[in-house]
Amino acid sequence: MGRSGPWSWLCFSLLVVGSFKVLDVAAAAQSIVFSVELQEKRSCCRVGKRSRVPFPDPSLYYRPVIGILSHPGDGASGRLSNATDASYIAASYVKFVESAGARVIPLIFNEPRRSSMKWVYSSLFPVSSLLALTSLTLFRWAKRGLYYDTAQDILQKVLEMNDAGKHFPLFAICLGFEIVSIMISKDEDILEHFSGTNQASTLTFAEDMAFQGTIFQRFPPSLLAKLSKECLVMQNHKVPTKSHLSSFFKILTTSTDDEGQVYVSTVQAHGYPITGFQWHPEKNAFEWGVSAIPHSEDAVQVTQHAANYFISEARKSSNRPPAGQVLANLIYNFRATYCGKAGKGYDEVYIFS
Ligand SMILES: *[C@@H]1O[C@H](CO)[C@@H](O)[C@H](O)[C@H]1NC(C)=O
Repeated sequence: MGRSGPWSWLCFSLLVVGSFKVLDVAAAAQSIVFSVELQEKRSCCRVGKRSRVPFPDPSLYYRPVIGILSHPGDGASGRLSNATDASYIAASYVKFVESAGARVIPLIFNEPRRSSMKWVYSSLFPVSSLLALTSLTLFRWAKRGLYYDTAQDILQKVLEMNDAGKHFPLFAICLGFEIVSIMISKDEDILEHFSGTNQASTLTFAEDMAFQGTIFQRFPPSLLAKLSKECLVMQNHKVPTKSHLSSFFKILTTSTDDEGQVYVSTVQAHGYPITGFQWHPEKNAFEWGVSAIPHSEDAVQVTQHAANYFISEARKSSNRPPAGQVLANLIYNFRATYCGKAGKGYDEVYIFS
């Protein structure tokens, strides 16, 4: 790669940081201009009339597409639709993905004929990358039926792809994590009842935890310190997992519920790029209907760092669906509906029926 490779990018950012430390702002600005000029010279951004984009790493895919599994219902307790075949995706998940530089394809769980779902069952797995299973606490029906079966098929596919050496990450949030826990442990009773519904909380990091290679790897140390002291994450669940999942997952963080009981709040699979959350990384920046959701600058940074990690994992995927298929299935083919006017629940949802 020579000088147009990662080193020139690295030098550039180091230069900027270094400049601010030792120089005043005006001088720093000069040094930034200088380093940009240097950057252009070194990486030959323009070759004749065509511009050549200096990607930091050609092995990564810069057009990742994220599949999100839809969830039964309208996401608004029947205010928007009572259709029995309705399913929804909270728009905050979509915004979370988009904010970090990726697009979303909805995987509508009860529409196996849609091409996006056909991909799930074909050898050419859906989306280029990972999928966040949806949120909401685990209702009894979620443990069986089409939704559960679809989630299981998807998890199976994720495991198979990774076993075959194809990096394919999965973020399982809340219900997603709970379902994955049941599937992995093959134990329907693995979940215990905790009182952590709609409550902001702290995260306690596991002892001797290695941050590198986890969702927390790029959190600034000051933010990590605050996470363990201030309520910067939103928990919304009733039923987290027992520790005998530990052969599959390593525990990254625990949290404490209203009654002082400790539960597992973030996990990462040992051999797979699978991260499970009992908290909602997407809510701090994008949901307003519940007053307990933290919106401080630190809390919003938690959302941003989590999204950046998620999509950085997605860029490593070798799964690159054909552009035409992507365009035909993107979430942009659907419209989000505002449902926050009721002053509760999600602010916007995509409804499929
Ligand atoms: C759904 O049913 C409930 C209860 O009958 C009703 O209050 C509500 O208006 C219905 N929603 C729609 C969108 O028709």
